[in-house]
Amino acid sequence: MNYNNPNLIFNDIPSGKIGWSSPSNIALIKYWGKKDLQIPTNASLSFTLNNCQTETIIEFSPTYNDGCSIEFFLEGIPNKRFAEKTCLFFNRIASIFPFIKQLDFKIYSKNTFPHSAGIASSASGMSAIALILCDIENQYFNTFSNEEEFYKKASYIARLGSGSACRSIYGGLVSWGEINKGSNLYGSPVIDGVSDVFKNYHDSILIVDSEEKKVSSTVGHGLMNSNPFKNGRYNQASANISKLIDIIGKGDLNNFINIVESEALTLHAMMMTSLPYYLLMKPNTISIIERIWQFRNEKEIPVCFTLDAGPNIHLLYPHSYDDKVKIFIKNELLQFTSNNTVIHDRVGNGPQKLNL
Ligand code: PMV
Repeated sequence: MNYNNPNLIFNDIPSGKIGWSSPSNIALIKYWGKKDLQIPTNASLSFTLNNCQTETIIEFSPTYNDGCSIEFFLEGIPNKRFAEKTCLFFNRIASIFPFIKQLDFKIYSKNTFPHSAGIASSASGMSAIALILCDIENQYFNTFSNEEEFYKKASYIARLGSGSACRSIYGGLVSWGEINKGSNLYGSPVIDGVSDVFKNYHDSILIVDSEEKKVSSTVGHGLMNSNPFKNGRYNQASANISKLIDIIGKGDLNNFINIVESEALTLHAMMMTSLPYYLLMKPNTISIIERIWQFRNEKEIPVCFTLDAGPNIHLLYPHSYDDKVKIFIKNELLQFTSNNTVIHDRVGNGPQKLNL
């Protein structure tokens, strides 16, 4: 697949603005380890979230600069680091969208979740930008013959910005990698064979610590290259994703829990067995996990947890247990969070274009 297209150059350079809101996602089968340009070492699977979104508006106009011309405003405040990061991304994709070099960009981005919560916003942020660039192509060059092509390219571009961002382009359950005719180059929605119980699954995100993490995901992925357990891990992930897709089809909550929690703990085991080794869980992360296990055993309520590359807990549960789990969170888990911060989210439908 080669998206390079030298014809995407304006004759008359336009001015305009386009906005998209794009969600975050939570991986059930973890992508951890990559090669080349965001090519994953194993296939992954995630739920797209509903409430945790990044809303981005890009204003563009003809440029008179040779270099990268981006001003980035995060929550209304100029952000040099994000401007530089976006410039690197735009340089990486300049042969796919040559019109980038003809434009000045003002990027206005804000998150619908608290910025201080320590939740990674790269998946939602990069997917929103990818959708806007594809939308510029769509509006001015009219190159897409259908929606499927549009979203596939947006997912491919989002991947080049931040690997897991490619899964945020679609709602519901999304895979990325070589599973079920999928590709390492873009995400694919898992449409068929999802049992109803998983269609509106809940994810309450318990913020244990909102500080920026000490070891970035980029560094963490890199450390997998020398991890002595890497091959075992890649084989385990491949076996787990096939099993989990089957389990999700059957609505088998017990086996869902076993695989999802094992994936979360294995992700962190990979961090602990990297060289140099490191820990991203905090004591309160462990306290919450123990309370979840106790609650599940005593009440026979199918709640489970997963973790991103950080200390915060994603508490996953079926919609029918919503009331009971919210009481459990309030009575037993909030005490372990930072400033009682919990973000109640659930599986969502994917990105939306903003009406400007
Ligand atoms: O997309 P990245 O490079 O930020 O890596 C994300 C890695 C995990 O969140 C830990 C797992 C995943 O599949 O999302």
